[in-house]
Amino acid sequence: MKKIAVMGTGYVGLVSGTCFAETGNQVVCCDIDETKITNLINGKIPIYEPGLEEVVKRNVKEERLTFTTDIPQAIRDAEIIYIGVGTPMAESGEADLTFVKNVAQTIGENLNGYKVIVNKSTVPVGTGRLVHGIVSSRSNGRAPFDVVSNPEFLREGSALYDTMNMERAVVGATSDHAADMIIELHKPFTETIVKTNLETAEMIKYASNVFLATKISYINDIANICERVGADVTKVAEGMGYDKRIGAQFLQAGIGYGGSCFPKDSKALVHIAEQVGYDFKLAKAVIETNDKQKLKVVSKLKSIFPSLKGKRIAVLGLAFKPNTDDMRDAPSLEIIPELVKHEADVEAFDPIANRAAKQFFGESITYSTDLYKTIENADACVILTDWKEIVEMDLDKVRRQLKMPILIDGRNCFDLKEAEKAGLIYHSIGRPV
Ligand code: UGA
Repeated sequence: MKKIAVMGTGYVGLVSGTCFAETGNQVVCCDIDETKITNLINGKIPIYEPGLEEVVKRNVKEERLTFTTDIPQAIRDAEIIYIGVGTPMAESGEADLTFVKNVAQTIGENLNGYKVIVNKSTVPVGTGRLVHGIVSSRSNGRAPFDVVSNPEFLREGSALYDTMNMERAVVGATSDHAADMIIELHKPFTETIVKTNLETAEMIKYASNVFLATKISYINDIANICERVGADVTKVAEGMGYDKRIGAQFLQAGIGYGGSCFPKDSKALVHIAEQVGYDFKLAKAVIETNDKQKLKVVSKLKSIFPSLKGKRIAVLGLAFKPNTDDMRDAPSLEIIPELVKHEADVEAFDPIANRAAKQFFGESITYSTDLYKTIENADACVILTDWKEIVEMDLDKVRRQLKMPILIDGRNCFDLKEAEKAGLIYHSIGRPV
């Protein structure tokens, strides 16, 4: 059992802290946001993540998990301090490290004995050294410490599962002793450990995310070519995926990747490369393909309707992917303003992201949590997120509800024959109409 303080109760901090408590450690999750901490103490989880609330509540009840805004005290009491604060993207594409630096200063000021300081936020290569420098100068040699980079690989929507069943843990440390402490902590999660130095661990995180983003942009480019040559990208992906060297995952063509990670990390890696004089052309192309891909559904609509003015468009799904209400870099943020600009009358359906979406679209569209009502009398239906209820919708009923039988599917949710049988004019990505 270790005493762990986790800085930041966002996705990374809250999920990691909860999982460390779940595996028997004493964990205190800290945040400067008092409302967030009060809510957490009262059992209110600030993010939508399936299963999280239950595990948080159980660990709070069993007194392994607490929440506080008293960061100095939490630091003094801890053996291991995890940094899981946000690293938003600055205008330049660079990660903004203000929160990480603030935490490092507070740790330095409150260092009262040997501690292992672990970075879990996605940070540019070199941040571990930076944290080391800040803690060192603020603590004036009062106590020894080590810095570890232990990047996070969880996905939103399956965060708990991904953490409890991680495929590997990456541990980059300034000493063997610190590395071994963090490796021990991960034993309940995985046997597969990559032990390395700080910089390599930091690079593994970016290299992994940008590789996955590259797979997506690659298959989206292939999809665009498939449309022109009459091929079916889903079959192309299936045929490719059986080759173990390629793998079947992340080859789903669609309207591009969104969320808080791939868009931010791909731009950050281009920036990191630029700073050391390297022109990362491949990553730049990945970003460009993704930016263009988001508007594919709009161009498909425009090829059907000479004018979108006054057309009732039912948009299904607003979040960047299913099982989250996260709207960060969601393709809908590009697509909906474009439809509104063309004076389409947009009614949107999302099971849980409507409230978050309203902050972006305001009153320019209407919102619904009733799937079939959203489609009723629409001139066309557009799928932006592959929510379970959307993938499982009854196409015959969809056809009956629509004014015109037009379904534009940005996520390739349906079989071509099935859509045809239902009498729909079905436009998807990278497949014949
Ligand atoms: C991603 C990574 O998958 C995690 O391993 C990583 O820890 C995380 O970023 C992070 O850096 O924190 P996440 O952003 O939650 O996780 O979401 P993904 O499930 O990876 O999906 C990202 C985007 O790619 C979504 O918009 C999704 O719709 C899109 N996608 C995914 C595709 O368009 N096609 C695919 O085949 C797969």
